[in-house]
Amino acid sequence: MRAQHAKKHSPWQTVLITGASSGIGEALAYALAVPNRQIALVARRKERLEKVAQAIRDRGGEPLVLACDVGDPRAVQEAASRLRQTLGTIDIAFLNAGIGSRGIAQNLTSAEAEQVMRVNYLGVVYWLDQLLPDMQKHNRGTIVVTSSLAAYRALPGCGTYCAAKSAVSALIESYQIDLLATNVHLVLVTPYFVETEMTGFDPYRSRRVWMSAADAAQRILQGVEAGKHHIAFPWHFRCFMTGLSLLPLPLYRMFWRLVRRGG
Ligand SMILES: NC(=O)c1ccc[n+]([C@@H]2O[C@H](COP(=O)([O-])OP(=O)(O)OC[C@H]3O[C@@H](n4cnc5c(N)ncnc54)[C@H](OP(=O)(O)O)[C@@H]3O)[C@@H](O)[C@H]2O)c1
Repeated sequence: MRAQHAKKHSPWQTVLITGASSGIGEALAYALAVPNRQIALVARRKERLEKVAQAIRDRGGEPLVLACDVGDPRAVQEAASRLRQTLGTIDIAFLNAGIGSRGIAQNLTSAEAEQVMRVNYLGVVYWLDQLLPDMQKHNRGTIVVTSSLAAYRALPGCGTYCAAKSAVSALIESYQIDLLATNVHLVLVTPYFVETEMTGFDPYRSRRVWMSAADAAQRILQGVEAGKHHIAFPWHFRCFMTGLSLLPLPLYRMFWRLVRRGG
């Protein structure tokens, strides 16, 4: 069953990547750049996208730069319409654009919560809205959506981020079941500890815990090629977050009380 699913992923002639101007999205773009493959690159920073596009051209690929704010439904509609005119039907899309957010309950602002939800959750919804009808019409296509291991259990200090990523994970898990009888595949990616602009770069970080964006991109592509529906890494933090997700609320609160007392 898994091998059958994997076969349907290949070959990818037309690819879309959101959040392609840096980090995991940029690394995915380089990993996917092969001669004659058309790769549409979405992010807000056009000059950064142009650099990624040039690197794709150098590898023989054919880039299309679509500068767009994924949190603006009209901008997504316009970018998707250009995408359809230029590339036609998309074989595989990576909905990866996202922003981080740190903040505790005491200083939460609704403006920040709205922005995180708009980019991290609605940014996925707006693109699904544009891509799914076409894929369902042709009964083929794959959409790989980046959530986070932070969606497994709400962590302190990043409530708005956890809320938005939990929404993404719930949406994709639900849609995966809705689409079970079709050849349209949704893949959920839940990473953590990837060195990017969002998490910062620190030479003193443990190499055993942190990984590069290029390694993260490889894991994602290997998982998709293998026909996985959920790709989660690194394994140790996945185990930790799974453990936390199974704790009853009183134990979960006790865990953080102990951690805070220890600190
Ligand atoms: N790094 C990690 O450890 C980690 C862990 C869990 C989940 N993730 C998720 O992985 C994804 C990629 O993040 P990253 O770590 O690679 O961080 P990153 O280097 O900061 O990349 C984020 C990408 O999203 C784009 N983006 C942000 N806001 C956007 C908007 N409104 N419209 C369009 N594009 C937008 C950025 O481009 P512009 O600024 O040019 O628009 C950039 O290309 C995110 O969804 C993030 O939540 C990362």
